[in-house]
Amino acid sequence: MRKKLIVGNWKMNGSLQTNQVLLASLCQAFDPANADLAICGSTPYLSQLQTCLSASSIEWGAQDVSSHESGAFTGEVSASMLKDFACRFVIVGHSERRQYQGESDDLVAAKAQRALAAGLTPIVCVGETARDREAGRTEFVVKRQLSAVIHAVGHCTSELIVAYEPVWAIGTGEHASAEQVQSVHRVLRAQLQAATGHSDRNRILYGGSVSPSNAAELLTLSDVDGALVGGASRDAHQLLSIVSACRP
Ligand code: PGA
Repeated sequence: MRKKLIVGNWKMNGSLQTNQVLLASLCQAFDPANADLAICGSTPYLSQLQTCLSASSIEWGAQDVSSHESGAFTGEVSASMLKDFACRFVIVGHSERRQYQGESDDLVAAKAQRALAAGLTPIVCVGETARDREAGRTEFVVKRQLSAVIHAVGHCTSELIVAYEPVWAIGTGEHASAEQVQSVHRVLRAQLQAATGHSDRNRILYGGSVSPSNAAELLTLSDVDGALVGGASRDAHQLLSIVSACRP
């Protein structure tokens, strides 16, 4: 039985002051019996996450990592730097980075590989656009995105967390239906199983307009092991009610 994991993706939001209030509320009310919880914040706030969360059972991580180990890459942040702030997770291949920074499948795979080498757990995002779905290409796209990562990380595939995030569902208030989520998760599960030989190792999260009103429906699907939560993760009450929806 895989314990569910809720990951808050704060994106480029927050300030020292608002984060402090939010983290204090999370620490006070989070019940680890329901699910694991992690927050992925912007790089300047990693030290704040470490300070505020280290005495709690909430973990933290980053939203991106360089594919390079170190050197003349101005503006980049390396995996070992994230480790310096005791990050456990790093999101790679978020659709906003694929879209706005032009990140390719190969670059995402190199980032996942770099994260694993430093002892971080990559949360690999995959997902189709509305156009892909209309053209019947959903399965093809998510398999292609995941396969680049599996190919690069080889026997470490069992260490990956995968997040299925349909691009059209992110930040739109329009989540994928239970049938759509379960059918893509089943495909991803089979792909991971073929690569690792294990059917129950990897956690596969769903992301895209997860909220307290749809969490129970989505999080009880058999192949859904948690959620990657954007907008609702900036509100302690909403994030904690999503965690509560995982109650075993
Ligand atoms: P959302 O974002 O919950 O605001 O849709 C999810 C994500 O981008 O990870």
